[in-house]
Amino acid sequence: MKHTTALIGCGRISFKHIEAFVKNADKMILTAACDPVLSRAEEKAKEYRASLPGAGLAVYADYKQMLAESPPDIVTIATESGKHKDIAIDCLNAGCHVICEKPMALSTRDADTMNEAARRAGKKLAVCFQNRFNAPVQKLRAALEAGRFGRVLHGMVQIRWNRNEAYYAEAPWRGTWAQDGGTLMNQCTHGIDLLQWTLGEDATRVQAQTRRFLRPIEAEDFGAAIVEFKNGAVGIIEGSADIYPTNLNETLSVFGEKGSVVIGGLAVNKPETWRFADACIVGDTEDRVFNSNEKDPPTVYGFGHEALFKDFVAALDTGREPLVSGEKGKKALEIILAIYKSQKTGKPVDLPCDFSTMEMKGVFAE
Ligand SMILES: NC(=O)c1ccc[n+]([C@@H]2O[C@H](COP(=O)([O-])OP(=O)(O)OC[C@H]3O[C@@H](n4cnc5c(N)ncnc54)[C@H](O)[C@@H]3O)[C@@H](O)[C@H]2O)c1
Repeated sequence: MKHTTALIGCGRISFKHIEAFVKNADKMILTAACDPVLSRAEEKAKEYRASLPGAGLAVYADYKQMLAESPPDIVTIATESGKHKDIAIDCLNAGCHVICEKPMALSTRDADTMNEAARRAGKKLAVCFQNRFNAPVQKLRAALEAGRFGRVLHGMVQIRWNRNEAYYAEAPWRGTWAQDGGTLMNQCTHGIDLLQWTLGEDATRVQAQTRRFLRPIEAEDFGAAIVEFKNGAVGIIEGSADIYPTNLNETLSVFGEKGSVVIGGLAVNKPETWRFADACIVGDTEDRVFNSNEKDPPTVYGFGHEALFKDFVAALDTGREPLVSGEKGKKALEIILAIYKSQKTGKPVDLPCDFSTMEMKGVFAE
């Protein structure tokens, strides 16, 4: 069975959604593209038809009209982050399942409201943390689940990227507390999700320093944090949008009693270190093949949207939860909001914590 699908928000990232619809064409059929800037929706329809000639999708300036006229099975949301909550809730209430771009929301309360709306509607909600589907990350996760690390001790994520003034000028919502947050919330959220996913998913305390060093934005362009987990593991976060002159690396490192893994490259795509005490037992070959040189993807967005959409459809078809459900997607958001709160208060912050980007207004005032 094919699931009818609509895209809401046809800006910079939407080409990855189109690509993923096309690659999952056996399971998903795009029936509408929506954007108040109608030419952008038309552009997406053109992109889709270029791969699937004859596809008869509609374009809408107002997604509410689309929901009223022909509500699809699935909606993917790729608008400004500050708009995700209201749009997701409208779609869930209209009977659609929702795949929402990261971050799912900009406050813990909004994330809870979205998860509650999905539960009430009996619909599925997923968040686009597509890097979880990178091949080396999946291998790392499998090694963790098989217990190959022994006790997990510490991990680190480094996001050393460049988002220049032109990037922020292109869409004025970027870097604002009301619609985006800073580089931790926008760019580093992927890496922070991977860190918490590999260190135990149960962060208990965060201490942080964030700065707005260079960029002409309201929010931070740099952050450093230490995250404690319930199982005793310690995570370290280094995230920057200021790296001169271009994107350098996004690297996840996980260290356990009996294993060390480092996955680097532009966007956590290249295995750099893969050492396990049991390597000769589970098979040297697998471990050596795994150390092969992977190429960087053409953009930092990687290839994960296709796999994430495939997983979502499989979740619908089998009745299980998607890998990155709304509940799972909230975890990185909560850590980032705790980082923000720690910067604001100058103190460590215990989780669960209730915070919003809007409470950061004025923190970096001149
Ligand atoms: N998963 C990733 O790797 C990744 C990468 C980049 C961006 N993102 C996320 O995707 C989202 C969009 O980012 P972007 O850089 O593409 O932004 P963008 O500004 O380029 O595009 C946003 C689009 O949404 C449209 N829009 C606004 N309100 C709308 C509404 N009510 N209905 C329909 N469309 C509406 C805007 O007109 C615009 O075309 C953000 O949440 C961002 O964090 C995710």
